[in-house]
Amino acid sequence: MKISIVGAGHVGLVTGACFAESGHQVLCVDNDMEKLAPLQKGKIPFYEPGLERLVRKHLKTGRLSFSPSIQEGVRKSGVVFIAVGTPSRPSGEADLSYVEVVSREIAHAMTTYRLIVEKSTVPVETGEWVRRTIRHSLRRKIPFDVASNPEFLREGQAVKDFLQPDRVVIGVESKKAEKILLEVYRPLKTPIVVTDIKSAEIIKHASNSFLSMKISFINAIATLSEKVGADVVKIAEGVGMDKRIGKSFLNAGVGFGGSCFGKDLAAFINIASKAGVDFQLLKEVQRINQHQREGVVRKIEQAVWNLRGKTIGILGLSFKPDTDDLRDAPAIDIIRALQKEGVKVKATDPAAMENAKKFLTGVTFCANAYEVARGVDCLVILTEWRVFKQLHLRKLKSLMAHPVLVDGRNLFDPERMRRLGFRYFSMGRPAISS
Ligand code: UGA
Repeated sequence: MKISIVGAGHVGLVTGACFAESGHQVLCVDNDMEKLAPLQKGKIPFYEPGLERLVRKHLKTGRLSFSPSIQEGVRKSGVVFIAVGTPSRPSGEADLSYVEVVSREIAHAMTTYRLIVEKSTVPVETGEWVRRTIRHSLRRKIPFDVASNPEFLREGQAVKDFLQPDRVVIGVESKKAEKILLEVYRPLKTPIVVTDIKSAEIIKHASNSFLSMKISFINAIATLSEKVGADVVKIAEGVGMDKRIGKSFLNAGVGFGGSCFGKDLAAFINIASKAGVDFQLLKEVQRINQHQREGVVRKIEQAVWNLRGKTIGILGLSFKPDTDDLRDAPAIDIIRALQKEGVKVKATDPAAMENAKKFLTGVTFCANAYEVARGVDCLVILTEWRVFKQLHLRKLKSLMAHPVLVDGRNLFDPERMRRLGFRYFSMGRPAISS
């Protein structure tokens, strides 16, 4: 099928490359020439394992190409996906101005039937707005359909999530649109939920809110565990083995970050409130998450006594492993809070250091964990990168001024840390302290 995708960001680019991999002919449209020129040479502007290989492969097969022109995209394809950004306004509401502009441009370029699909995460009723905008912007009466097809990929495993999803959700309002989208996804051989547009839009916000809720739930249990001397890792194991609950997203830690959960929670609370529903449950999810970040700073203080004048080493800056993304990363808040309290910060991250230099001032960036460890009063793990799990702990300890480790991601076994002679503080487990 001939498909165009407007917006070559994380979602748009992964969608484009994976549709090409599924055998479709894809044109990715983006008006940012600084992004487009490297893309045309197969260079992607962010870290996403496996994506660059796929983009290069399909630039070669000719199934993937790039253009700055929406007009060209609409002319060449029967299906046009909208995958532009929907950033947060200060109120939490999603800013849909890019979606509106793109909808209008698509309408201007249309000459015959097109299916326009929202792929960006949008509030319920956006589909209706897109339809209205296109109808009013068409130069003459042309048939078209609007559909919703939310994306569930995770950064860092986006290609796999796209090609082997748990499900695909499509919200449609005509048989024709349904048939086209079923054909688009047929190569993936995956279960497909077909519903109306509003329900599809809500499925996306409900999924992200539910996952955030699981994380805040286990973090609340972690706080309780610390108070009573229980072990949240074992609790999560015991709870998660119930198939009705499930094991995933029950890792206690420094709280969730990234470009999606925080933004989507705020947007969903805002949508509900506009509809007259006070979603207290989700407000509590937000509160617990914020508390988690502050709690790490207090935990570091507990570990080193006074913060002022101490040197603290941070391992991990990105909001999770396998990405260089720092959007709403807990590390940024935690580092700034430490600096405010007079701490000198050293830090490392396998992928996010270049990005971090743009956000953080006064931090000494180091090439690896051992360099960070040299002379510090305390090490703090904020992202569970695999290289940190594989650290030579004896060597690490020998470099530190004091063997104090605050593990915000529960990477190590407390008993092993005790044997190695660390004072070890983790999340929701008894501290090993002398
Ligand atoms: C999330 C969803 O998982 C995707 O399904 C969705 O498509 C995407 O948002 C989106 O809306 O675009 P992502 O933000 O890439 O994906 O990251 P996740 O892997 O979901 O992790 C989010 C945060 O939760 C991270 O900070 C992670 O460290 C944290 N987390 C995750 C925990 O603290 N504990 C857990 O058990 C799991």
